[in-house]
Amino acid sequence: MDKERTINPDLIEEKITKRTKAIIPVHLYGLPARMDPIIAIARKHGLKVLEDCAQAHGAEIEGKRVGSFGDIATFSFYPGKNLGAYGDAGGIVTNDEHLASACRMLSNHGQLKKHDHRIIGRNSRLDTIQAAVLKAKLSHLEKWTAARIQAAKWYTERLNDVTKPMVPSDTRHVYHLYVIQSTGREGLMNKLKEVNIGCAIHYPTPLPHLNSYSYKGHKKGDFPVAEKLCSEILSLPIFPEMTEDEVDWVSEVIRDTI
Ligand SMILES: Cc1ncc(COP(=O)(O)O)c(C=O)c1O
Repeated sequence: MDKERTINPDLIEEKITKRTKAIIPVHLYGLPARMDPIIAIARKHGLKVLEDCAQAHGAEIEGKRVGSFGDIATFSFYPGKNLGAYGDAGGIVTNDEHLASACRMLSNHGQLKKHDHRIIGRNSRLDTIQAAVLKAKLSHLEKWTAARIQAAKWYTERLNDVTKPMVPSDTRHVYHLYVIQSTGREGLMNKLKEVNIGCAIHYPTPLPHLNSYSYKGHKKGDFPVAEKLCSEILSLPIFPEMTEDEVDWVSEVIRDTI
């Protein structure tokens, strides 16, 4: 059965402790997390919701855009993203004046006005050149998104015997990545590479098992869902300019290998 791969709201409440400040749903691969139950849990426990929209520009639930559900949301404009600058860039959106002002201060050496430093900030201003690139590309985003959705539809129609992205009917997935799942992932990946079809694993290691978090002492088996996904997921090529013939070719190689 095809499965949803974003945060499971049913398991959030049991993880909340006295130290919990916020819930961070990640709209992974471009598929919106289930925001209604997440917001309800956050309100019940007095927590903030920070949406990670890095991969989900233009994704929607019931026609409402991601980034407008929580208290604050972050977007990445890294060059490979659905809306990408020519170098590193990112943005934050919020309707909360206090948070907006705090973010402006943080990104500009802790000041809102020149020489009036209220907090210890950093230099994370958006570079003007990157802003110009993003401004020019923004008007094309909708058509690029529609083209990604079309390519994903072609894949979904053609692929069998692999787990395909699950998209609830009220949800707009914007396919930053088209990720399948297969127990035969290694063979599939080797074959695709052999015929020069790019593919990748996003992501090979569950976050808690990264070396940087080894101090937390997590063991294999502590995160069974993430561990299983990391061993089976495979990202197929997807980009707005992808043609039906190209999707046909990738799908054919997959069908012949599985
Ligand atoms: C889901 C997700 N969150 C956060 C980030 C971080 O974005 P940036 O590299 O622009 O800081 C990325 C980028 O790779 C991402 O894919």
